[in-house]
Amino acid sequence: MSIELTWLGHASWMIKTGPHRVLLDPFLNDSPTSPMKSADVEADFILVSHGHFDHVADVPEIANRCGSKVIAIYEVAQWFAQEHSVEDTVGMNIGGSLNLPFGQVKMTQAIHSSQLPDGSYGGVAGGFSLKIDNKHIYFACDTSVFSDMALIAEDEIDVAILPIGDLFTMGPKDSVRATNYLNPKQVLPSHYNTWPPIEQDTDKWTDMVKAGSTAQPIVLQPGETHKID
Ligand code: NI
Ligand code: MN
Repeated sequence: MSIELTWLGHASWMIKTGPHRVLLDPFLNDSPTSPMKSADVEADFILVSHGHFDHVADVPEIANRCGSKVIAIYEVAQWFAQEHSVEDTVGMNIGGSLNLPFGQVKMTQAIHSSQLPDGSYGGVAGGFSLKIDNKHIYFACDTSVFSDMALIAEDEIDVAILPIGDLFTMGPKDSVRATNYLNPKQVLPSHYNTWPPIEQDTDKWTDMVKAGSTAQPIVLQPGETHKID
């Protein structure tokens, strides 16, 4: 069964596998690069990496309309339940894993902050390691590079999705260092070109990945889909 990975601009991704629609960090209505609005999205599951507005903004609307199960670090999951009446939440924490109908979700470390938009404490930021149909897909989410990415790579990674925007996360050069720790077959960039402070040249990034790692760089435009076979 193939897995379809669609970039919805910024750090928002849709993963379609069999009958399951898994949304990651939906930020659509206020994103200048999103190809769609939150009302156009259907999700069975929503994964949330941390509490910043550009990751949580559209979660309540989508979750409450679709009845999605929302998976986030404990404090952020609790915030969705208490402040936004999201009915089906699962709070987890770094290093923990969870089996869901589409596969296994493990929350990984991220080096980043996580305050929620109303000032509530959002715990710490995380990333997600997904095992779906014998494929290992790693979303670093908002983070700097860290050498313990090598631990995540002990289970061979098929596809890694890394931020490249710089300023708030690692930039292009560190994303190549991260690619070497992770050693994925394919690497896709995220969290860039949404606003001027995180603009990046993906042609340059592609050349850097090819010159500095063995991974295949894949650049999507917002709305485009990459099939993982
Ligand atoms: Ni952030
Ligand atoms: Mn962010």
